[in-house]
Amino acid sequence: MRAAVRRRLPQLTARAGGVGPAASSHPDPYRNVDAQPDVARMIQSLEERGRTRAQARLRRRFLRFAGIPKAGRVLEVGCGTGVVLRDLTTLVGPRGRVVGVDRSRRVIAAARELCRAHPTITLRVGDAARLPFQSARFDAAIAVTVVLHVADPLAMVNEMVRVTRRGGVIGLQDQDFGTLAVTHPDRELTDRILRGVAAHVYEEPHSGRRLPGLLRAAGLAHVRLLTDVYQDTGLEPYTKTFLQRRAENAVRFGIVDAATAERWLDGFTKLVADGAFVMTINYYGAVGVRGGGASIAPTTGRRRAAAFMRARRSGRTERSANGARRTGPWQRRAR
Ligand SMILES: C[S@@+](CC[C@H](N)C(=O)[O-])C[C@H]1O[C@@H](n2cnc3c(N)ncnc32)[C@H](O)[C@@H]1O
Repeated sequence: MRAAVRRRLPQLTARAGGVGPAASSHPDPYRNVDAQPDVARMIQSLEERGRTRAQARLRRRFLRFAGIPKAGRVLEVGCGTGVVLRDLTTLVGPRGRVVGVDRSRRVIAAARELCRAHPTITLRVGDAARLPFQSARFDAAIAVTVVLHVADPLAMVNEMVRVTRRGGVIGLQDQDFGTLAVTHPDRELTDRILRGVAAHVYEEPHSGRRLPGLLRAAGLAHVRLLTDVYQDTGLEPYTKTFLQRRAENAVRFGIVDAATAERWLDGFTKLVADGAFVMTINYYGAVGVRGGGASIAPTTGRRRAAAFMRARRSGRTERSANGARRTGPWQRRAR
């Protein structure tokens, strides 16, 4: 049987309440990693997530979907410890270049160590809203689980567009906490903790489903969406840490007391022992093309757009991008 999920919450509560001089005032620790009292633990948890098999599958499927070009110059914004960068080196190959930028000095220092064996990776400290790169320098710019954490996602995407050449790809992947589902004997308490903590920590807990709109708001063309699911039925170390952090934060934000949070964690221990544990959360990957130049599929795209405009002008039945017939309010009436 696996170890219990419970942690010693009272001790953590005391530390959280005490907030040392280095602690950040924003409840989302990824807003300012260097101001957190437990940066080493955060670094470890990013690597732990990266190693989790279901997470690696999600990440790699998204990178394939984004169409990272072989021998291309690729930027990852909010690169953390370099989990995604290391995957990118395989995709771009030895003639490609992979650049990671992150706001946190401590995280970039850890990434330098962890990416030492990869000569095609370069790392920089910098803010997503003011990227330290010249315009049109990259063939692709991506950000994986970063939109959720930044104060102004559109400012970040606008910067990613600026540093990407015309016809290049901009890609975002993010989880969506409105889709988090987990087994637990006390459903009401589970909802209270999970929704309460997400609402407290993130500006937009449903950031994942908003990614296509964000890319369109930044003026990108050919926006596509890949919806994927993280699934865990065995309580992976990453999932365990995730639930423990939710319990700690529920106490910290006054959503429940420490005894209730511990009882909640104990509920998972029994489910795991019975082989009845399930946690799933949707991950959304959205990709768009910077317009104004040769895009990835210029001819097909222009042909489709012209056909679409002709159909609209003539009032013929419209079809969505995937060929499905549009109905209801989306059907344009023939005049
Ligand atoms: C959840 S981690 C994701 C790391 C990496 N992309 C991965 O998937 O392993 C979010 C990262 O975004 C960084 N970050 C947050 N706000 C940022 C900003 N304004 N500019 C650059 N990086 C930022 C954090 O320091 C952190 O390393």
